[in-house]
Amino acid sequence: MPDLLLYRSYLFRQDMGIFEKATYALGILSIDDQHSVLIDLLQKLQNKEGNLELPELRNLLQELKDYARDHFTHEEECMKKSGYPDLVAHKKEHAAFVRHLAVMGFRLQNSSVLPASEIADFLTHWLLDHIGGRDRDYVPYLQKAGFL
Ligand SMILES: [Fe+2]
Ligand SMILES: [Fe+2]
Repeated sequence: MPDLLLYRSYLFRQDMGIFEKATYALGILSIDDQHSVLIDLLQKLQNKEGNLELPELRNLLQELKDYARDHFTHEEECMKKSGYPDLVAHKKEHAAFVRHLAVMGFRLQNSSVLPASEIADFLTHWLLDHIGGRDRDYVPYLQKAGFL
């Protein structure tokens, strides 16, 4: 059950259930809000299934990549400032995600047979595993450093 602060943070986002999203809440608002935007972008991809026009798919992937990069930069800055000891391994996971997005973008440049559902499934699993797993590890360090 999410606490009230987190609940409020997700209250007006309707494209994913409040409680589903709250599952991924870490309790650090700036980061939770960014994760929420990433999840929204993934939802957009998922909802389109195979019906997405290629230019639209490319744009969505680009948007996801740009936003993920900004988010990773913010997260890495917070981890650095809080002295999180596993920063290097965490950064590697972020870099791998951006690389996968770049590879998918490349495949889309050269072929029109990459279905949106395949992309969405891969990205959803990767990102939600990361947010629900690796990202949780830094929470005590960031909280101790005063990130709320
Ligand atoms: Fe994250
Ligand atoms: Fe992360």
